[in-house]
Amino acid sequence: MFDTRMLSSDSSDIEYGAKLINDGEVVGMPTETVYGLAADATNENAVKKIFEAKGRPQDNPLIVHLSGVEMMDKYVCNVPELAYKIAECFCPGPITMVLPKRDIIPYITSAGLDTVGIRIPYHKTARELIDACGKPLAAPSANLSGSPSPTTAAHVMNDMKGRIPAIIDGGACAVGVESTVISFEGEGIRLLRPGYVSVEDLKAFGVPVYCDKGITEAVAANEKVLSPGMKYKHYSPKANVTIVTGELDKFTQYVSEHNGEDVYAMLYDSDAAFYPYKYLTYGNNAKEQAAQLFGVLRKADEIGAKQVYARCPSQDGVGLAVYNRLLRAAGFEVIRV
Ligand code: TXA
Ligand code: MG
Repeated sequence: MFDTRMLSSDSSDIEYGAKLINDGEVVGMPTETVYGLAADATNENAVKKIFEAKGRPQDNPLIVHLSGVEMMDKYVCNVPELAYKIAECFCPGPITMVLPKRDIIPYITSAGLDTVGIRIPYHKTARELIDACGKPLAAPSANLSGSPSPTTAAHVMNDMKGRIPAIIDGGACAVGVESTVISFEGEGIRLLRPGYVSVEDLKAFGVPVYCDKGITEAVAANEKVLSPGMKYKHYSPKANVTIVTGELDKFTQYVSEHNGEDVYAMLYDSDAAFYPYKYLTYGNNAKEQAAQLFGVLRKADEIGAKQVYARCPSQDGVGLAVYNRLLRAAGFEVIRV
């Protein structure tokens, strides 16, 4: 058991966090997407502690975080020209590229795969921490496995209190959903997990973009998936979540027929004035919904919601990421009214 410390993002606190990581410990790290649980990606024992702290299945690989594109060649090989072009456009930023790993990345980090996801976060504190450590940092989202990802340091404390020695507070995450994960296939790009860097952004490179089936459809437990994370129920609050598509009046009608004590709607901000029952709101457009989604799902638990009916987000741009996370929180339960 640790007496988990909340650190600031001042340089002395970053140094302290780096010392913990270089001693083989796990530290909560802010990024622009969600908070991560960071440890030395090249230290097997330290990486093992990440899986333990999260309660994460060992067959789900971790993303390795670097502070700059120039670090990439030390950890991955056979990098296609397209990957460098994408890095030039979007790194540092909310994108992860799956590439063939070098031996310096141990198999515990890649969950036995010969590839590893590489990400260069935009958040200044994350890059300062990586530089202070002088190491690549393996970091999954800093939630307990299965729970909504954390977008504030307080969310991390809520899940990780006693499990890790320290959390660096870098403020609320600007993007709010995890990075876009891609791999390379022939001349094209395969989208494994949607994020802030959108399908439209990737198509702009003039190559085919293939979307993994798991993004908008349930994947059977025995089916082979390219991104192991896609097969787990994810991002779920304790409340049962159901997506209800259709206009607000039909939505309201549906809820009125299924209403009860601990039932809450999850609405667009602009719906609220016209909605007569209990509700939470999650913004008015895809970017706001991305930033607020996980916080609202956590809020639903805090207020004791047993059932949440969510208004369906748009699927354009970062909206596809919002829809994908909400679908998984809902266990793919969608009602069309
Ligand atoms: O924004 C993010 O990516 C955050 C922050 C902390 O950087 N990290 C994050 O990590 O979301 P995690 O572990 O919660 O999700 C990583 C996803 C999983 O779905 C995993 O299966 C996939 O990326 N992934 C990682 N390495 C992979 C690989 N070599 N091949 C295929 N999928 C991979
Ligand atoms: Mg995660």
